[in-house]
Amino acid sequence: MGMLGKGATAATIATRLSPVRVAVWTGTRVVRTATATPRGTWTFWRLVRPEDAVDVLTRQHREIRRGFVRAALPGPARRRQFDRLMRLLAVHEAAEEAHVHPLARRVLRSGPQLTALRRQEEKQAKRLLLELRRTGPDAPGYLRRLNRVRTAVARHAAREEREEFTALREAVTGTRLRLLGAEVKLAQWYAPTRPHRWADNEVTNKIAAPLLGPVDLVRDAVRRAARA
Ligand SMILES: [Fe+2]
Ligand SMILES: [Fe+2]
Repeated sequence: MGMLGKGATAATIATRLSPVRVAVWTGTRVVRTATATPRGTWTFWRLVRPEDAVDVLTRQHREIRRGFVRAALPGPARRRQFDRLMRLLAVHEAAEEAHVHPLARRVLRSGPQLTALRRQEEKQAKRLLLELRRTGPDAPGYLRRLNRVRTAVARHAAREEREEFTALREAVTGTRLRLLGAEVKLAQWYAPTRPHRWADNEVTNKIAAPLLGPVDLVRDAVRRAARA
């Protein structure tokens, strides 16, 4: 989208008009329209639409499931899909550990036991992920390790959806869950892009994410440049 026209105010908002058109509204008139790709428009809409935390996390579970399938496909795109999967998992687990499990622990009757089990599974999955990352997508044994992580993550995600998310929907108001959803989405911007063994609870994730995220992004850029 180009620069805003003269007279644009702080109240300017971008509005999705159709699957391919994006307009900028100054409060009194439309100052600029631009054609966006359906994919770009969809990404934009996903960021601004109101979703509660359970919607966001369940959607991420689906994306992670698809990510495992893509990362298993042979070909030149495998490395890119593998990096993407690592980022999806890191962002997702960091958000759960920093924002969602702490709430579940506080508000659910069996919250402390439930979240302790989920965190245990997350730690185990993180260990497997670090092994997989060390192996890399081009080494022998990659698919076997990928499948081990996939099974562990799928079981863990199913338990979260069945036991924790359903209970949160009943125990917490819609407004609070939507606020938490916004927090989870915001955390995506500065979350780490890879698993970090010691960032595994509310405090370490909240402190570490804004520091590790930018560091990881720089390391990813350097690695990409070295591969090019
Ligand atoms: Fe989790
Ligand atoms: Fe999850």
